[in-house]
Formats: sequence, C-alpha cells, structure tokens
Amino acid sequence: MQKVVISKTWPVLDETLKSMFTENGFPKSMKIADLGCSSGPNSFFLISHIMDTIQDLWKHNLNNLPQLEVLLNDLPSNDFNNLFKLESNFSQYNGKEKKLDCFIYGVPGSFYDMLFPSNTLNFVFSSYSVHWLSQIPEGLGKNNKENIYIGITSPPKVFEAYANQFQRDFSRFLSSRAEEITFGGRMVLAFLGRSFADPSSKDAYPLLTVLGEALSDMVAQVICFGTLAI
Ligand SMILES: C[S@@+](CC[C@H](N)C(=O)[O-])C[C@H]1O[C@@H](n2cnc3c(N)ncnc32)[C@H](O)[C@@H]1O
Repeated sequence: MQKVVISKTWPVLDETLKSMFTENGFPKSMKIADLGCSSGPNSFFLISHIMDTIQDLWKHNLNNLPQLEVLLNDLPSNDFNNLFKLESNFSQYNGKEKKLDCFIYGVPGSFYDMLFPSNTLNFVFSSYSVHWLSQIPEGLGKNNKENIYIGITSPPKVFEAYANQFQRDFSRFLSSRAEEITFGGRMVLAFLGRSFADPSSKDAYPLLTVLGEALSDMVAQVICFGTLAI
C-alpha cells in the first residue's frame, strides 16, 4: 500500500522538481532526504523515480547531470542493515539506464528534531510517516478507556490531547526543515488524514479500533487466567 501511496505523489513530485530547476537553475549536485524511509525497498523506488525525472529534465544536457546525495532517515531502531542490503540490488528498481552518480547514506534520528546542518538540503520527501506522533499525548490516564488511539468511546479531552500533540510535533517538524532546507529548496509530504471533520466517527480509524478491541480481549484473558492460577 505504501508503494501505491508513493506513486500517487509522482505528479506533484515531478512538477516540484521541474519548478525548482526552472527557478534556481540546474545544479551540479543535489542533497535529497527521505524522512521515515523504513527498511524496505520503497526508498529505492523513490530514488529511481527521482533519477528518471532528473534525466528527463536534463535530456538536452546529459553530460552535465548533477551528482545526487541521498540521505535516508528513520528512527535509530530502524533496520538500516536491511536497507543497505537492498541498496546493492538498487539497479533492479530502476527501469531506465542510470547516468547519474548517486551516493546513499543512512541518517538515524527523529524527524521532529534537526537531522542535518542548516541550509544544506535541496529536496525533502516523506511518505506515510509524518502522521506518527513523537509520543502518546501526556495526561491521557484512564480517560481513554480501552482505546489505543482516538476511538468512538473516547471523550473530547482525548481528541484535544491528540490534536495538541500533532500541532506541537508538526510545528517542530516544519521549523527543523525550515532551518535545513536551502533557499529555493522544496519539500513533498504524503501522510494520512481524514476527509471528514468528526474524529469520533466509527469510519475514522477502523483498523485501530479493531486492534484496540483485540488487545483488550487478550488483556482480559490474561487477567482471567492469572486469577485462576492464583
Ligand atoms: C509506514 S513506514 C513508511 C515507510 C516508507 N516511507 C514508505 O512509504 O514505505 C513509517 C516509518 O516512519 C518512521 N518514523 C516514525 N516516526 C519517526 C520519527 N519521529 N523520525 C523518523 N522516522 C520516523 C517509522 O520508524 C517507519 O519506518
């Protein structure tokens, strides 16, 4: 599913790169970051697409293609070893012949803090990651009943706590990127949202509601067996 989401960004991404080169000229090198890259092949799917797009945009100037530096970020607990193993098969994700030099690095850390020096990134991309909050909102206590996220039975205080946490996190995300991205640089983000206003609608988080119920049932069974054993 994440791969489908990434491919839905292609029209925006291509237009963004095109406008960046039209406004800023064609650079000799570019620093690109993929934030929340995970450990699977999707980052390479992205890099391949960016390389293809750049080659298409440079088609009258193929001897002066830029060198790319691609910075793959995720939390320190991410399986970067697997990511780098996939890098060796990278060419299989690239349909066209690659004529650009591309140097790939791993960057462990949270995208809610600064990850790169000031004024260094030309292009930032992130797909299916920025909806992950930095932490469970503080002070939920038992207010949220058996829910593991916002649920139909959550009281309004819980909605507020999650909304405030998102605002705090997203502000930190944007101010960190504002510091890191060069003048004239660009960012494309894809992340989950709701198409309707009511966060308590039963259609809002069907997966997390079912998952929460399953976890509550398991906890109830453990408590029950525990009592029997005593
Ligand atoms: C669903 S995966 C998406 C992976 C990839 N971008 C894709 O589209 O296939 C979300 C990733 O975001 C990462 N993530 C969550 N919070 C993060 C944070 N604060 N900083 C960096 N990465 C984070 C997770 O570790 C996870 O690998």
